[in-house]
Amino acid sequence: MKDFFHLLKRFVPPYKNYLILNIVMNFLSALLTLASFYVVMPMLNMLFEIETVSYAYIPFDFFSGDSWAHLKDILENNFSYYIAQIINTYGGSAALLVMALYLVIGTIFRTASMYLSAYFMIPIRTGVVRDIRNRINEKILSLPLAFFSEERKGDILARISGDVNEIEASVMSSLDMLFKNPILILVYLTGLFLISWQLTVFALLMLPIAGYIMGQIGKKLKKRSAEGQQQWGGLMSQIEETLGGLRIIKAFNAEEKIAKRFQETNEVFRKITNRIFRRQQLAHPMSELLGTIVIAIVLWYGGTLILNENSSISGAGFIFYLTIFYMIINPAKDLTKSVYSIQKGLASMDRVDKILKAESDIIDPIHPIPIALDKQITYKDIRFRYKEHWVIKGISLTIKKGQTVALVGQSGSGKSTMADLLPRFYDMQEGRITIDGVDVRNTKVHDLRQLMGIVNQEAILFNDTFFNNIAFGVKDATTAQVEEAARIANAHEFIIASEAGYDTNIGDRGCKLSGGQRQRISIARAVLKNPPVLILDEATSALDTESERLVQDALDRLMQNRTTLVIAHRLSTIRHADLICVMHEGEIVERGSHEELMAKNGYYSRLCEMQSF
Ligand SMILES: Nc1ncnc2c1ncn2[C@@H]1O[C@H](COP(=O)(O)OP(=O)(O)OP(=O)(O)O)[C@@H](O)[C@H]1O
Ligand SMILES: [Mg+2]
Repeated sequence: MKDFFHLLKRFVPPYKNYLILNIVMNFLSALLTLASFYVVMPMLNMLFEIETVSYAYIPFDFFSGDSWAHLKDILENNFSYYIAQIINTYGGSAALLVMALYLVIGTIFRTASMYLSAYFMIPIRTGVVRDIRNRINEKILSLPLAFFSEERKGDILARISGDVNEIEASVMSSLDMLFKNPILILVYLTGLFLISWQLTVFALLMLPIAGYIMGQIGKKLKKRSAEGQQQWGGLMSQIEETLGGLRIIKAFNAEEKIAKRFQETNEVFRKITNRIFRRQQLAHPMSELLGTIVIAIVLWYGGTLILNENSSISGAGFIFYLTIFYMIINPAKDLTKSVYSIQKGLASMDRVDKILKAESDIIDPIHPIPIALDKQITYKDIRFRYKEHWVIKGISLTIKKGQTVALVGQSGSGKSTMADLLPRFYDMQEGRITIDGVDVRNTKVHDLRQLMGIVNQEAILFNDTFFNNIAFGVKDATTAQVEEAARIANAHEFIIASEAGYDTNIGDRGCKLSGGQRQRISIARAVLKNPPVLILDEATSALDTESERLVQDALDRLMQNRTTLVIAHRLSTIRHADLICVMHEGEIVERGSHEELMAKNGYYSRLCEMQSF
């Protein structure tokens, strides 16, 4: 339960006004319930002549301490006096009518306050869940890329959807019960104490035992739920992978294999869910049983008290007592039920916290230095590894302003990694990258990335229009600017040929476009941003000659007058680069211009030879 209150402390404070209103309304409804029964009992007593005492009116003196001390007695007495008056003057039937009216009016107020308490709880529930989702999303945007190579995408999706829903369903709905029921129980118990404290103390002694039994069952539930949600995350991951890889799955006739893998995970999930639900269902019968045992004992003990000659409690009082006591059973049951679902919800909260509490190690420095490129970008003795293996093994490289520097080399030699270090997608373990002498880690990440335009190895597009995909990194881009960028990128023609021109939706990740078209859109995006530094990770996918010429043309125009780090697979792209670095297993093994490297007759000339085939 400590975790639960911790959770409340984290998320509920913005809504504390609603909470206060909710609590006030709960108190009101509990008091009104008590009052209805409290009044009805003595009325019935008199009507059916169970009691035959005659009452005399006692005047209340506001200035006498004595009157205040006997407030309860005086009120009760005078109330009975009025009832007796009504019965004597108008007869029993009229008195019953008064009682019935009183009950109806009382109930109107009671239910109204019950409704209002729920009414004020709703904005808290929905608000907290909204806040959690927003926080996860913000966190995902701020976490470094490295975090996501560790976590599976589907699992993250499961946390945003499934786990947050679970928190909403269990913790938040329990919140309602958790504030209502203790208040009800508290008010009713106070009533019970007023009627007979001996009986109540006796009944209370049994509560801790019942509570302990219920708690034991709840404990295991949390662990099981965690397993369940994890399995659910696995399922989501598989669906995510299936959706992404549908083309390959079909091409390799792997439907059956994928279906089987899914069924197995799904089956495990079902088994865990079975156990969770079964245990959860235990809550109801267990509390029913324990509640009845407590009542039975109270009945026996209370009855014995009355049967005793000098008992402090009357027969009518005992019936009233049992009525109230019985009314405690329901809130107590609800309370245990909510303790159970809270356990389930807390397991989900733990999973959500894995994201919320993940630390980002790529953060802004405390005293950031402004950054601009006037002279050069320098990589100095860079060593980098994703996990154990060093991927970059001591590279130094200088890119002067306005130059084009190309990285070539076999697949997996670390070219994309080199490029990723510059905008701090990853931070290197050793060495440093400086721009005009300023370490990239000493400036704001935002300012650093503002300097750069990136065209990725795989064109990354969003399910949106051409216009919005091109204008992605620029605020308030005009139509003219976007069109200009598209023209430079050789994209204008095919965009206006599409059904709605720039407002055409390009589908999920641009699936309605060809590979070359996708690349040209992402080039147009970089053109529009017009950054001083360009990072170009050329696509490996082979384009047909026509498409290749268009893309190449676009790239050439993009690279003009810019400082460019280009990763090239087609060596024709970089024939005119100022410097070509050949990478091999995390090291630069050759560097120079195209002519110099060809003359060397080493790695580069061999690469060129292979490509001319
Ligand atoms: N997110 C990652 N986690 C762990 N290892 C990675 C990750 N990304 C890349 N690697 C490893 O780092 C090495 C270099 O990868 P990199 O992407 O830099 O190669 P590359 O030269 O760009 O290759 P390609 O020409 O195929 O694009 C590879 O061995 C790869 O397995
Ligand atoms: Mg690469």
